[in-house]
Amino acid sequence: MLDYKGYLEKLTKFNENTYPLVNPHLREEIMQIPECSNEQMEQAINDAHEGYKTLKGLTSYDRSEILDRASKIVSDNKQLFAETISKESGKPIKFALGEVGRTIETLKFAAIEARKLEGESIPLDAAPNGDGRDAYTIYQPIGVVGAITPFNFPLNLVVHKVGPAIAAGNSIIVKPAEKTPLSSILLREALVEAGLPENAYIVITGDGPRLGKVLLESSVVKKITFTGSPQVGKLIKSQAGLKKVTLELGNNSALYIDESQKDKLEAIAKQAVNGAFAYNGQVCISTQRIYVHENIKEDLITHLKTQAEKLTYGDPLDENTDLTGLIDEKSQHRILEWLDEAEKAGATIISGGEKLENSIQPTILENVPRDAKISCEEVFGPVVLLNTVKDSDQALEEMNDSQYGLNAGVFTSDLAQALKFGHELDVGQVLINDVPTLRFDHMPYGGRKNSGYGHEGVKYAIHEMTNLKMISLNYKF
Ligand code: SIN
Repeated sequence: MLDYKGYLEKLTKFNENTYPLVNPHLREEIMQIPECSNEQMEQAINDAHEGYKTLKGLTSYDRSEILDRASKIVSDNKQLFAETISKESGKPIKFALGEVGRTIETLKFAAIEARKLEGESIPLDAAPNGDGRDAYTIYQPIGVVGAITPFNFPLNLVVHKVGPAIAAGNSIIVKPAEKTPLSSILLREALVEAGLPENAYIVITGDGPRLGKVLLESSVVKKITFTGSPQVGKLIKSQAGLKKVTLELGNNSALYIDESQKDKLEAIAKQAVNGAFAYNGQVCISTQRIYVHENIKEDLITHLKTQAEKLTYGDPLDENTDLTGLIDEKSQHRILEWLDEAEKAGATIISGGEKLENSIQPTILENVPRDAKISCEEVFGPVVLLNTVKDSDQALEEMNDSQYGLNAGVFTSDLAQALKFGHELDVGQVLINDVPTLRFDHMPYGGRKNSGYGHEGVKYAIHEMTNLKMISLNYKF
């Protein structure tokens, strides 16, 4: 039976300091978690270096088989993983089960990619002095990867770093969010059971900035992959020196619905409400700013309100629950303050707007000034804004008026218009006829501006965790 307790006990043996892990829904302590020391992180880096040397003895076939077996082990323990996610993050069980389902697939995609890390051949005789030379490229692992992961997808966003690292032949140290360390440890146990060498994936729990600094300062760690806030992302980038860095940061995701969609508004509202309020909006690509053509605005409001008012707040483990407590009281206060600021600046509440136990009611606003924090910052809470536009040019201009650039969605039946949005939206991913809150685990996923640097999505993450090497052969010598 997979369990995180044995691993936590091992961490506690070296250092007795702990911190409380709190269930965010009830804000009650669940257990104590080891507050690992800097020395423990240094030891982990040395161990991971040894783990890397062991991994070098495995073929890509071996690594692929381990990832495949791990996917099967996660699948066999689906409920355990989902309940662990739910317990530590407060995520409703139906979304936690969805996250486990995605994890199973992410591991499968990593297993596939491990087998086809292919280079290319380069005819060097295309250059004036290259006569007689052929060349080819290979991708080599970079060594030890340091991963710093967020609370909102405590399993799948860890797998998005661990799967590609192993597929590429790297070892990895994960510093999970302090609030959600358990899922990453369970994942480790699954991978070790699947045959991964013990030191190829190490989890170190405790304070992010302090332990992250040890990772950043180590010359053994060759790559940092981080998902979290732009502030921390920028700090990491400024201190990473020549290490490779991938940063997946926030967004204030925009969606446009044009007039051609007037008969589909009920279905669109359903998707938009799910996109805005799933896991209380604590998702980097949560639907935050909706732009709607003025002629269909009233109908859209009716459908959005109907759908939002159907959502139920309750026990995360109840399969009918849609909404639960926010990750902490600080987030709740911040969002209430931002709502207050927007209302004072002229915004109107269409639905919600009040505190709801340890969260906030699913809230729909309109007439929000563009410079209000609730519009121009990432809310990371159950709030969506409705903006009325007179045409697609206005929508495009306002959607691009953002410090972020991760995902955006557009509903339209006009092909030329879809292509125009596809080309001109200043984001990493444009989703036509979908809300922006959509990600498949093998698709490239990367932001622009304050949304990030580099790409995830298994194949793309692997390339960012390898060194490209060229080998040339002079057959006329
Ligand atoms: C994120 O919130 O950063 C990731 C969203 C996802 O993987 O669906």
